Amino acid sequence: MPQELRAVDWTGSGLALIDQTLLPHRHETMAVHDVDTLVDAIQRLVVRGAPAIGAAGAYGVALAIIEGEREGWTEAEVRAAVARVREARPTAVNLMAGVDRVMTRFAEGLDAVLEEAAAVQREDVAANRAMGAFGADWLLAKLQQAGVERPLRILTHCNTGALATAGWGTALGVIRELHARGRLEVVYADETRPLLQGSRLTAWELVQEGIPHYVQADGAAAGTILRGEVDAAIVGADRIAANGDTANKVGTVGVALACADAGIPFLVAAPTTTVDLATGTGDEIHIELRGEAEVLEWAGVRTAPAESRGHNPAFDVTPGRLVTGLVTERGVLEVSAGELPGDRLNMGRSV
Ligand code: MRU
Repeated sequence: MPQELRAVDWTGSGLALIDQTLLPHRHETMAVHDVDTLVDAIQRLVVRGAPAIGAAGAYGVALAIIEGEREGWTEAEVRAAVARVREARPTAVNLMAGVDRVMTRFAEGLDAVLEEAAAVQREDVAANRAMGAFGADWLLAKLQQAGVERPLRILTHCNTGALATAGWGTALGVIRELHARGRLEVVYADETRPLLQGSRLTAWELVQEGIPHYVQADGAAAGTILRGEVDAAIVGADRIAANGDTANKVGTVGVALACADAGIPFLVAAPTTTVDLATGTGDEIHIELRGEAEVLEWAGVRTAPAESRGHNPAFDVTPGRLVTGLVTERGVLEVSAGELPGDRLNMGRSV
């Protein structure tokens, strides 16, 4: 078993981020000692994935305090820097939740802030481990009821592994658990246009774990599902509304629709820190619109006609009615059967 990856780490004086823009060809760590660099790293997806940016944001508060001391900032200037970290990307609620949780210790000073950020990180790993077990138990039981006894063929979209979290992974954590139990045949990893989190990052993690997989074009997913080549799909989330509507990487809703048509489970695996009970429905979720070049160019070379405009929503919303199961660290909610997060989850301070 390879050493567990740490996408986000505190070095004692700053952040060490695995630069995910360089993977799979280069595995390098980027040192971050100031807020501008952190905001830029979050926006360029050096660090990405809802729980990972939650942890980075939590440590971002410490970074703002240290930079403020170095540069002689007023408290208002430190708070303004924290606000910039909090707003670096709009969709994943973990970023805001991580910053807000740590800010409850701001008045106690740097050590308290660092203690709280470390707790955000530690609790995320523990949540992922719990989700892995709950998700694998649920899937194996459901598929056994449906007469499936053989190892499973699982489709996933985007990257939800150790790189996207504080460690282990959410949806990919369930997949790793199935593999560890000897109950996984193969993973279909959607390549995840336009930034290729599936082919660059998920496939890289699966290689590290020795997990058999295919990378497929996003456009292949519905056909693979409808041909009966997939037993279940499992994805992560960036924000889950009280009614179970789920924002995740663009392309997710098409996977969910195909699963519904094929009658196979569509699971969302996310810690309760990704559930935002203040958001009633998916219509209220702010979907990040990214730059046009990401869809008009390929590896920096223009592919679309010069006259074309690009439309580049980074996420979409899957209606709760299509979410067969929401796997959290507290167990599995059968959302499409009426177990809504708003009714079933009684959140603590972390959301
Ligand atoms: O734009 P990204 O790469 O940050 O998007 C990531 C996703 O959509 C993930 O599926 C989600 O954050 C869950 S990660 C455990």
